[in-house]
Amino acid sequence: MCGIVGVLGNHHVAPLLVEALKRLEYRGYDSAGIATVNEGRLDRRRAVGKLVNLSDLLVHEPLAGKAGIGHTRWATHGAATVANAHPHRAGNVAVVHNGIIENFRELRAELTAAGYSFESETDTETVALLMRHELAQGGTPAEATARLLPRLHGAFALCFLFEGEEDLMICARKGSPLAIGHGDGEMFVGSDAIALAPMTDRITYLEEGDWAVITRAGAEIFDARNARANRAMARIQVDATRIEKAGYKHFMAKEIAEQPVVLADALRHYLREDGLNLPAGVDFTGVDRLTLVACGTAHYACHVAKYWFESLAGLPCDIDIASEFRYREPPLSDRGWAVFVSQSGETADTLAALRHVQDKVARTLAVVNVTTSSIARECDVTLPIMAGVEVGVASTKAFTCQLTVLLTLALKAAQDRGRLDAAQLATRLADLRLLPGLMNAALALAPEIEGLAEELAKAQDVLFLGRGAMYPLALEGALKLKEISYIHAEGYASGELKHGPIALIDASVPVLVLAPRDALFEKTVSNMQEVMARHGRVLLLSDQPGIAEAGADCWRCLTLPRVPDLLAPILYAVPAQLLAYHTAIAKGTDVDQPRNLAKSVTVE
Ligand code: G6P
Repeated sequence: MCGIVGVLGNHHVAPLLVEALKRLEYRGYDSAGIATVNEGRLDRRRAVGKLVNLSDLLVHEPLAGKAGIGHTRWATHGAATVANAHPHRAGNVAVVHNGIIENFRELRAELTAAGYSFESETDTETVALLMRHELAQGGTPAEATARLLPRLHGAFALCFLFEGEEDLMICARKGSPLAIGHGDGEMFVGSDAIALAPMTDRITYLEEGDWAVITRAGAEIFDARNARANRAMARIQVDATRIEKAGYKHFMAKEIAEQPVVLADALRHYLREDGLNLPAGVDFTGVDRLTLVACGTAHYACHVAKYWFESLAGLPCDIDIASEFRYREPPLSDRGWAVFVSQSGETADTLAALRHVQDKVARTLAVVNVTTSSIARECDVTLPIMAGVEVGVASTKAFTCQLTVLLTLALKAAQDRGRLDAAQLATRLADLRLLPGLMNAALALAPEIEGLAEELAKAQDVLFLGRGAMYPLALEGALKLKEISYIHAEGYASGELKHGPIALIDASVPVLVLAPRDALFEKTVSNMQEVMARHGRVLLLSDQPGIAEAGADCWRCLTLPRVPDLLAPILYAVPAQLLAYHTAIAKGTDVDQPRNLAKSVTVE
C-alpha cells in the first residue's frame, strides 16, 4: 500500500505533489508528507492523518523547490506518528517507500553497529540510512543505488531525493508497481498512472527489479543486474471525469449509481449479437479443473462464480483466499486453469498466488479492472471488468462487474463442455441483457433503504443469511456493512445458523435474509422462522412472490424485481451496498476512507 509521487518540475512542486497525493490517498491515509530540494537544501513537511492536515501545515510552513517527492502512508511498521511518516531522511538523502523491507531488522542492527541512530520505528528509515552510508563510501548516487538495492529483501517501490541535486530522482521497483511519467522538460514518478494523469499521459512502467535515474532530460532505466534496459513508453488514457465525484456526496454513492452503465459496458464487451465474445485463448475444451484466487470482495465474487462454474458447466472449481492459497500447497492440474480476480490487479497476496502457479497450470487468467496492472501483465489472458476507476475503499461496481464477467466465463465453459445448446445459451444471454435495467430498478429502492438504515445504525451486531449463490452474497453484504459503518456483521449460509450463530439471536440483532423466490426459498423461510421464534428481527430481501409468501411476520421487507436465478447475486448486491452506505451515513463514519483500511493492499 502507500502512495508515492515524485516530480522534477519547472515550477515549485509542493502543490503538484499534494494534488497527486490526493489521487493516491486510496492507498492509505494514516499520514502524508513531502520533501523538496530548494537552492540545494533538502527539507520536508509531514503530518499525521489525512492529506488535508499536510495541506494545512503547508499553509503555515510552505515548502519551496522544483524537485520533490511525496507519500501517503498505510502504517505497517510503527504507529501513525510524524516520526514514522515519510519521506524519511538520513543526512543528505530523503526517500519515500511503498512495501516492506523484510530484512530491515538485520540492516538496522548493522547500521546501529556502524554508529548510525534511528528516529523512527519504520523499515523505510533503514533504506535512507543505508543510502547515506553507501554515498559516504564514495561514487555517484546511481553507483550507491546499484550497491544498495541487492541488499534489500522484500517487495518495495522507492523514490530517492538528494541534497544538492535539483535535477535528480532515483526510483526502484521490486514487487510494487511504479510508473515514470514524461513531461516537456519535466519528469514524474508515481505509484500509478492515475496519480500522474493531469501532468502527463506518457508513461513508462518499470518492470520487476528495474531502477531508474531520472533527470528533467529523461529516465535512464537499469534492470536487476544493473544493465541498461529499454522500456516502452505508452500513452495512457485515464478518463478524468471518472475520477470526480460528479455531484455525488461520496465516491461510493457515485460508484453504486454507475452500475447500470458500467455493467452495460461489460456486456457490450463480452456479448455479441448472437453469442459470447471472449478472447481467442478462452476455450475450456479439455480443462479439468478451475482454481479461482482473490482477496476481500473479489474473493466473494469467486465464491459466487464457483456455484456458476459447477452448476452450469459441471467444471470442478476450487476457490481460495490468496493469502492462504500458497501455504496450503493445493494440488494443481496441468490441464487446469487458474483465475485471479482483482480490482486493482496489484494486491500482493493475489500476485504472489499467481506467481506460485505459473508453470503449474495450463493457463492463467486475470479478471481485473486495471488492465495495465501487474496481475494483468503476468497472466496469459486478461479479461477486463470495464468498471472504470473505482475510488471508494469499499468495492461496489467492481464487484458486480467481476460477477458479470465471471458469469460470461462460466457460460463459455458450459458451451465449450457441451452443457448448453444454442437455444439455452440464447436464453441466458437474453437474461444477461436485462441486467442494466434491473440494476436501475434496484437503485430506485434507495429512499426506502435510507429509512431502514436509520434503524440498522442502532444495532451492534447484524447477521446476513443466504443459501446457494446467495450465501457468498451474505458474506459480501456483511463485509460491506462492517467495513464502512464499523457495526459488527457476519454472513452465514442460512442452513448453518442453527449450528452456532443462532445463539446470538435476540430482539436487538437484525437478521438480513437475502432470498429471491427460487428453488431454495422454502428452506430459507424455515431458517427465518427459527430466527423469529427467538424474537429475532428479520429484514427479508426478496421479490414480490417471496414477500407475499413469507413477508407477513418479518420485521421489515424490501421488494426487489423478479430476476432469473443466475442474476440474483448481481442484483441483490445493490441493496446490500445501499444498506451499508446509508447506515454508514446515519452513523457519520467516513464512507470513502474508512478507518484502518486502504483500497489497494500491496503488502502481504
Ligand atoms: C482491499 C479493498 C477491498 C478489496 C480487496 C482486494 O481490502 O479494501 O475492497 O476487495 O482489497 O482488492 P483487489 O484490488 O485485489 O480486488
